[in-house]
Amino acid sequence: MKNFQFYNPTKIIFGKDTVAELATLVPQQARVLILFGGASAEKNGTLAEVRAALGQRSVREFGGIEPNPSYETLMRAVAMAQAEHVDYLLAVGGGSVIDGTKFVAAAAVFDGDAWEIARSGGTKVRKALAFGAVLTLPATGSEMNNGAVVTHKASQDKLAFRSPLLFPQFSVLDPTKTFTLPARQVANGLVDAFVHTTEQYLTYPVQALAQDRFAESLLQTLVEIAPRALAAPDDYATRANLMWTATLALNGLIGAGVPQDWATHMIGHELTALYDIDHARTLAIVLPSLLKVQREQKRAKLLQYGERVWGIRDGSEEERLDAAVDATRAFFERLGVPTRLSAYGLGAQAVEAVLAQLAKHGMTRLGEHGDIDLARSRRILEEAL
Ligand code: NZQ
Ligand code: ZN
Repeated sequence: MKNFQFYNPTKIIFGKDTVAELATLVPQQARVLILFGGASAEKNGTLAEVRAALGQRSVREFGGIEPNPSYETLMRAVAMAQAEHVDYLLAVGGGSVIDGTKFVAAAAVFDGDAWEIARSGGTKVRKALAFGAVLTLPATGSEMNNGAVVTHKASQDKLAFRSPLLFPQFSVLDPTKTFTLPARQVANGLVDAFVHTTEQYLTYPVQALAQDRFAESLLQTLVEIAPRALAAPDDYATRANLMWTATLALNGLIGAGVPQDWATHMIGHELTALYDIDHARTLAIVLPSLLKVQREQKRAKLLQYGERVWGIRDGSEEERLDAAVDATRAFFERLGVPTRLSAYGLGAQAVEAVLAQLAKHGMTRLGEHGDIDLARSRRILEEAL
């Protein structure tokens, strides 16, 4: 096992009717800015509950944070936070709203060009406003980590950043708030949580026995609950398991002391920046191909994954490796998430465009061994055509 530090200060309030807890979670004297996305939080009543719980506090609202939150939109929220002397942010929504709120928290008190926050990967963040979250979409883990991804629309840059100052103080996880999710977003959430887990697990063995089995249990849980998560939107038990599993997939726990990959995410971010494909869908395109191309480097873990997650025990080693990759692709397809670029109307031109973006962003040594250079990324993308 590698040396590691593990730190996660985010308090989780989980369960039915927990939005009311905001009454005590948010400081009484806070000047609050509620941030949310499009219409969903208003329509399903979550915002009304939030407003009621905040009671007499000074509250402002900023709506319209879009999926894959843009720098352009978020800077309007920054201007509002500054003009209104806000000192506490409350995100109400999915990963995009929570990520956007992290950016606003840092940008509202940043000296200089706020895009530097993203461009520096977060290393330039020196202070940030305090914030909490009410999660409505289980997927990203943003509710319990210190990372975020924002997009500069004008330049088509989708960049990730993180900072120890950007953990939410708390996150309210009420599974009933996910009942209104469209099937597409549920499928996206299942895929995103699955791939967060594989990014931290499908690398090479370092005898991290508990991390491996934690990761395998998250993967198995996602596979087990997927059909009901899609078929029965108001099945509380299923949604509760989805919500907590997605949080555990990216709150630092399974990634402690193990090598991490993240190449699927980095290549996927470029597909979103260029073609506006949902985050999770980009992962479903890249991961199966990446596993195929990186099969030698990942051989031991891929065999372990095949056996423990998919029950693949028969056949030669080569056959079992193939079967593990095929099972992954078939799982995504069963969820209704296409795994080929062609299914999104993209071809060879897109491969060139993504490679140019990767070069522009210095993404030329990706993966747990840093061996995914542009030539290797090309093979991965061509494999996904
Ligand atoms: O905008 P509204 O109307 O709220 O609709 C949203 C949005 O259209 C809708 N939605 C959310 N909750 C709902 C709901 N609709 C009905 N009922 C509800 N309860 O869902 C749509 C998608 O929302 P979004 O927040 O974009 O989805 P997700 O949570 O998948 O977040 C994706 C973003 O997170 C980033 C991605 O790159 C992407 O920008 N990521 C953040 C990570 C992190 N911070 O650690 C890690 C991830 O790998 C990921 O990169
Ligand atoms: Zn993700």
